[in-house]
Amino acid sequence: MKAYRASLLWFAPPGEAPARALYEPDGLLVVGPDARGTQVVQAIGAWSVVAPQYPQVPVEHLPGRIIAPGFVDLHVHFPQTNVIGSPADGLLPWLENYTFPEEKRFAAPEYSAQAATFFIAELLRNGVTTALAFATSHTESVNALFAAAQAERMRLVTGLCLMDRHAPADLLNQCAAAGTSTGAKDATEQSLLDSEALIRQWHGKDRLGYAITPRFAPTSTDAQLRGAGELAAKYPEVWIQSHVAENKAEIAWARELFPESRSYLATYADFGLMRKKAIYAHCIHFDDDDRQLMRETGAAAAISPTSNLFLGSGFFDYAGADRVGFRYGLASDVGGGTSFSPFHTMLGAYYVGREGQTKAGLSLSPQALWWQHTAGAAQALGLDGTDGQAAVGNLLPGCEADFVVLNPQATPLLARKTALANHLDELLFSMIVLGDDRLIEKTVISQAMV
Ligand code: GUN
Ligand code: ZN
Repeated sequence: MKAYRASLLWFAPPGEAPARALYEPDGLLVVGPDARGTQVVQAIGAWSVVAPQYPQVPVEHLPGRIIAPGFVDLHVHFPQTNVIGSPADGLLPWLENYTFPEEKRFAAPEYSAQAATFFIAELLRNGVTTALAFATSHTESVNALFAAAQAERMRLVTGLCLMDRHAPADLLNQCAAAGTSTGAKDATEQSLLDSEALIRQWHGKDRLGYAITPRFAPTSTDAQLRGAGELAAKYPEVWIQSHVAENKAEIAWARELFPESRSYLATYADFGLMRKKAIYAHCIHFDDDDRQLMRETGAAAAISPTSNLFLGSGFFDYAGADRVGFRYGLASDVGGGTSFSPFHTMLGAYYVGREGQTKAGLSLSPQALWWQHTAGAAQALGLDGTDGQAAVGNLLPGCEADFVVLNPQATPLLARKTALANHLDELLFSMIVLGDDRLIEKTVISQAMV
């Protein structure tokens, strides 16, 4: 067991008012192994109350520091680190001119390995301790990312990007290498066999999870989407991730390719790809029937404001989402997104929420923004401790002990501004607006204690 004395930020339990932050200026966080030997939070609260209950536990004192839950990035592309800041008229030319050429390079295991090591280090440096990530359509990239995350004990979910049409030939899923006999008839079938083999190899190993990953409906044939849905039915415990309703030209294309479905989103439901633990990036251009479908199926949206602003995709409709009531959380969407920093993403979400304010009279509170990138994103992933799953994104007793140590004096301006805060919302808002990787003094990952 170990304890940390610092200011503490965490969130009310799921089921209570979701965005309510709890704050203890002089707190004690006690961590220790659970029955499985995973390091979890044992106790949290005021130092004066908790310390007497754990007299034998060594305490690390961090005066002037704030301990907060590790951030959860609900949607990020590991092969797109080098794509950040690539300008284009919109999503489709951006994919064609920058993203697909870069992703081709991940066929090479050495290229994938060095990119994965950098990517995991960059997430941790920015305080992200759980991520749902895209890899490329090459199995090498998936293995490289899982291996890099495993080495750091990071909680990471990824999967083979399924793409069997409408992309450059060397980026489509490939048939098995000559000389190997897998029984696959074609590249589509091979991509599904490869996905299943990767599920068996990685899902549930240490802190890793698998996500069935059709890139988006336009780059998959009916057969591939159908196969992905069948795989999802066979493995109900794995995640599903894709993109939807991000950009007007993308939507028109998806509607042309799948005219029988009621909407672009409904295409995924029609192939059995909507359920709990299914995370759809963007979800911007929705109608209320789409919102209802999200709610009924338990799927969740990954809101990616810096990406949506950078690519000119549009503004997520918070008021619409809350009116109908479906789950969502925040995501960097690097490399459409412009930053690995959760502070930049939270600030982007604030701007997006302000856009909606003119329609709905709604402005996102700093507590709500922070929740969307921690406990809210964990809830969207099904990692909030309900349904017998692990809990991350919070520091309630039982949560895995992933946290960040924030230094509010990290820059002269942060020091000046945070010292003026009269209450919690002012403190959190100062950090959201002025913060970046410099605010993260340390990222601590839950250790295996056996
Ligand atoms: N839609 C399909 N692929 C992508 C991608 O890589 N990034 C974004 N932002 N949208 C997508
Ligand atoms: Zn994306």
